[in-house]
Amino acid sequence: MLNVIKTQIRKIRYNFKLSKFPKPNIINDEIYPHVQNLRKKGISTEYNFHKKNEKAKKIIDLYENLNKEEIFDYVKQNSNPVNKSSYKLRISRYFPDQDLINFAEDKFIINNIKQYFGFKPYLRIIEVVADYKNNFFNHPVHTQIFHRDADDVKLIKIFFYLENVNNNNGPFQFVERSHRYPWQDVNLDEESVQKKYGENSLHSCTGDKGTLIFADTNGIHRGLVLKEKFRVMVTAMYTSDKPNFAKFDKVIGY
Ligand SMILES: [Fe+2]
Repeated sequence: MLNVIKTQIRKIRYNFKLSKFPKPNIINDEIYPHVQNLRKKGISTEYNFHKKNEKAKKIIDLYENLNKEEIFDYVKQNSNPVNKSSYKLRISRYFPDQDLINFAEDKFIINNIKQYFGFKPYLRIIEVVADYKNNFFNHPVHTQIFHRDADDVKLIKIFFYLENVNNNNGPFQFVERSHRYPWQDVNLDEESVQKKYGENSLHSCTGDKGTLIFADTNGIHRGLVLKEKFRVMVTAMYTSDKPNFAKFDKVIGY
C-alpha cells in the first residue's frame, strides 16, 4: 500500500515537472528516425557513425593513435581494490578538450535531442570512460545494477563506442519502454523486468567501434558486468538547463 502511494506521488511530481517544459512538435519526428525510436522504446542506435560524421571520425582516429599500453597501465595503477567503483575510470585527459566538445555539440546529435526534448538541450557533461573487469568484486555494483538516472525529466545520454563491444565486455543494457513510466519502481531483476515490460524488452547494445547509442536514461538500464577485456566509450549527458542536481564546474569529466 505504501509503495502504491509512493509511486503515485512520484508520478504526480514527474508530470508536474514535465508540464513546465514546452511540448515537442511530434509531427516533425517524421524526419528523425532516432527520435521515433526514442519515443517508442527509449533507445536508438546509429552504427558506423564515424564513417558518416567527421567529428566522430576524429575521436576514433585520436583513440586509434593513442598508446593503449600507457592507458591500460594508467587504468591498472589507478584501480583501487577497496573501492567498489574500481570497474570504471575516466580517460578524458587523453583527448583534446575541443575535440570532445565538438563531438558533443555536433549538429546531428544536437538536432535529434532538440527534436526529442522540444527545445535546445543543455550539455551537462562529456567524458571518455574505460570500464574493465573488476577483479575485486564478483558481483555487479553501482551502475552495473538496474537503475534509472534522476538527473532531469528531460534527459538523453549518448554512448559512442571506441572499442568493439560484445556480450563479454560490458554492453549497455536498456529495458525498452521503461522510460515511459519513470515513476515506476526500479528494484527489479532480469526476470521481473521481462514480466513487467515484455519478454524481449531487455535490449543489449552490442556493436563495433563507431556505434552511437541514444538513450533516455529515465528508463531502466545498466552496464553489464565485464567478463573480459575493456570497454572504452565516450559518454555525454544532455538535460534541460535546469537539471535536478547542481551543474558541474566543467563540462568535461576528467
Ligand atoms: Fe545510469
